[in-house]
Amino acid sequence: MSINSNNSKSSNKLENILIIGNGGRENSLAWAIQKNELIKKIYLLPGNAGSKKINKSERISLNLHNIKELIKKLRFLNIDLVVIGPENPLAEGLGDILRDNNFDVFGPGSDGAKLESSKSWAKEFMKGAKIPTANFWKVKSLKEAKEIIFASPNPLVVKADGLASGKGVFIPESKEASLKATEEIFEGKFGTAGEIVVLEEKIEGPEVSVFAICDGKKYVLLPAAQDHKRLNENDKGPNTGGMGAYAPSPLITENNLKIIKREIIEPTIDALLTKNIDYKGVLYFGLMITKYGPKVIEYNCRFGDPECQTIMPLMDKDFVILLQKCALGTLTGNETIDITDKLSGCVIAASKGYPINYEVGFPINFGNIDFEDCQIFDSGTNLNSNGKVITDGGRVLSIVCQAKDFDKVFEKAYKNLKKISFEGIYYRKDIGHQVRIKTLNNRIN
Ligand code: AMP
Ligand code: GLY
Repeated sequence: MSINSNNSKSSNKLENILIIGNGGRENSLAWAIQKNELIKKIYLLPGNAGSKKINKSERISLNLHNIKELIKKLRFLNIDLVVIGPENPLAEGLGDILRDNNFDVFGPGSDGAKLESSKSWAKEFMKGAKIPTANFWKVKSLKEAKEIIFASPNPLVVKADGLASGKGVFIPESKEASLKATEEIFEGKFGTAGEIVVLEEKIEGPEVSVFAICDGKKYVLLPAAQDHKRLNENDKGPNTGGMGAYAPSPLITENNLKIIKREIIEPTIDALLTKNIDYKGVLYFGLMITKYGPKVIEYNCRFGDPECQTIMPLMDKDFVILLQKCALGTLTGNETIDITDKLSGCVIAASKGYPINYEVGFPINFGNIDFEDCQIFDSGTNLNSNGKVITDGGRVLSIVCQAKDFDKVFEKAYKNLKKISFEGIYYRKDIGHQVRIKTLNNRIN
């Protein structure tokens, strides 16, 4: 794989990086960034137990809401580039504050983050820019919702407007269930995130995550990934943050890509510009490839998790330079990411009971892992007082492997997974079923 960035030399200093976040996404970003020889130090705020496996890294602990102390410390550390991983600090405007204090930041301001932090704002944005998406209604009362739900020919999808950690979307089977989901949201299930509800027509088709890294005007596409949102095999059970992924997704054919660029990506960037939104970060397009063409299910303002862990091993050492170019607004748009040589896949090891109720604090035992073309990125881990790695989240580890075909990718991933143990470990055995030839007949149990 190579990143041809015409001028892959960095124009600004690029020695000290700060990555904000504590998940598998941030762990994999740090791992990809440390490959560049320009990088001297990567600070992980706060990072997790996996941080210690990242070369040149150091965990730091700071309160993101104590802006004065934060800025003082980042100046002291001579931070050249800040990468903000999760949506919450982006939505709260951390990117704006850091930019106002002269830091180069990869991550949009709170205006651009609205694409994720308000579903109704994003739907109106798409409507205004004629970007294909499901029909929708923005509602502020149960009475209003009831009329719309019962006037529709089919049950409507129900979404809390604000950030709800991926849990605020309901796909009811009946109109009564749509109404019940709406009622629960209005009753405060998601706090202020549920003051507005978006009702949506249900659309159908396979889903794919497309990532455009963007400097405000120009963009470069990363390999598209296929997430597995449902908890259980055969895509059953509740929605989760994602139980596994693979990339690149064969759903992105040359023809689909042309349509996606013309009808979705470019109109999105143009519409942001029209609204004077200087979007420097990842535009994540959650798409459904329907029989009427690709449609946007959702936007996110950050890398997907576990899509990021899946894609990072496909990047070469110049990836961080692309991030810096986005932050500086100096992408040419002609940078290309060529990944002809490898495919990547990721399986998430989760805690029993995720995504609803789960316990943490269990010791993790890593057996004799084969690290050739395999990475283990820590998602929810920490160290106990004896320095032992323990579970510390719903999604605990991301097991990522690369090979020339997806059968080999997942064979390797599951082989390594069998060597890992912690109390209540749970993982889907069918990740990649869409692209594995030996697939379900040959599950590794
Ligand atoms: P979101 O958090 O908005 O990505 O929604 C979570 C999941 O719900 C998506 O990945 C889809 O599988 C499903 N979903 C969301 N909106 C719709 C829709 N309008 N029609 C069908 N499925 C949807
Ligand atoms: N894996 C889906 C997400 O990060 O939203």
